[in-house]
This record gives sequence, C-alpha cells and structure tokens, in this order.
Amino acid sequence: MAAMISWPVLVAAFIVAASLSSQAMEASAAGGGGGGNPTAGFVKVDLTDGDFQVQRPYNVPESRRFRYRDGVRTFWVYDNDKPFNTATHTNPRTEVRLRGHDYSSGVWQFEGYGYVPSGTSGVSVMQIHNEEGAEHATILMLHVYHGVLRFYDGPAIEGAIYDRWFRLNVIHDATASTVAVYVDGDRKFSTDVIPSKSYYFKFGVYMQHRDWSRCMESQWTNVTVYTKA
Ligand SMILES: *[C@@H]1O[C@H](CO)[C@@H](O)[C@H](O)[C@H]1NC(C)=O
Repeated sequence: MAAMISWPVLVAAFIVAASLSSQAMEASAAGGGGGGNPTAGFVKVDLTDGDFQVQRPYNVPESRRFRYRDGVRTFWVYDNDKPFNTATHTNPRTEVRLRGHDYSSGVWQFEGYGYVPSGTSGVSVMQIHNEEGAEHATILMLHVYHGVLRFYDGPAIEGAIYDRWFRLNVIHDATASTVAVYVDGDRKFSTDVIPSKSYYFKFGVYMQHRDWSRCMESQWTNVTVYTKA
C-alpha cells in the first residue's frame, strides 16, 4: 500500500530509536527527571483557521465526521468509511492537513493537546507527511493501539493514553533528519528519519492495518506550530 513505509526502513529506524531513547532516558534520569520546555528557543508560526484543511471520507458531509467547538477539534471515522477522495485507495481518515507551512529545512515543531477516548484503537493520530509523490509517505506516525501511543506500530512512546488530555510536542530537525517526541513536556522518544524533499503536519484519525476499532476518535486543541533557524 502506497501509504506504508517499507519494513527494512522501519526496522532500521527502530534500532536507532531504541538506542537513542535509552540514552534520552539516562539523560533525563541523570538530570533529575525535569522535562524542561520543548518550545524554548522556538518562534511561534502564525496559523489561521484556513490553514487547518479537513480531509474526511469523500461521500459524507464534513459535519458527520468533524466538529470544531470551543477551540476543540473532534475527529472520528469508521472502519468501513471511504477514503478522502476517489483517486486514493488509502484507509479511512478524518484529519487536518496543516497547509501553508510546508517546510524543507530548519527545525520545526508541532504542539497540540490531544485526547483519545478509550476504545479507539488501530489509528494514527498525528503524522509528519512528506511531499506528494515521495518515496515514503511519512517520516513519523503516532499510532494508538489499546491505549498505548506508539511510533508507527513499533516502540511504545506513552502508555495509558486514553481518556485524558495530553500535551504532545514533536520536534523535527529537517536539516539533521531527526525527530523527537515529548509527552506532557518529557522527551519520550527520538530517532533518525529518512530525509525527503518537504514535509507537513497532520493530526486527527487515520485508520491503520491492525487492531482497529469500529469507530476511531481523537480530539485536539491549542495546536501550535513553531520553528527555529
Ligand atoms: C488551551 O489554551 C487555553 C488558553 O490558553 C487554556 O485555557 C486551556 O486550558 C488549554 N487547553 C488545554 C487542554 O490545555
């Protein structure tokens, strides 16, 4: 399937990730466990509502899969929904594609407060997507399976993700080709990634290939993009 990253690439990424994240854990233990602020030194990028482009199953009105109320975006999708357009055969999704801020160098950061209700499984809730036509569709996906947030369907990033607001920060150094994931201000995971030409952020619900639930939902608020030179 076009959206899937190849296994050799993924396995290589996991091996690097495993060694990096144990170093990160040691560093954080040595430092007394303090998280620090992942956005320190970054500059906020101005986002308008128009930058939040909603993609949803092509045959239903947006209001049947997406709600934006009191600053909270709620996304849901069903396992038998259609793709987001008639040309693609990708799995069902209701997602925001952040537009107008695609980047190809520098350091970029996604911040959002997310909520995943218990029962939702087998779904990507956030992605760093490569340019259309790239060899690999993504360099990072955060999946939820049975209450655990994972890097793709591999290493666990955070257990007990259900039924609470969590702060997510994802830092992508596009020049060095590294990503780091912070949950509630603590660095939980990092890895090298395969570089591509340009990138953009997505979040919402995108059904995956195992352990999916009939309905998949996530909520997001206070989504912010940051960058630094
Ligand atoms: C989002 O931002 C508003 C305004 O700063 C704040 O009151 C609210 O608590 C934030 N939401 C979450 C889930 O952190």
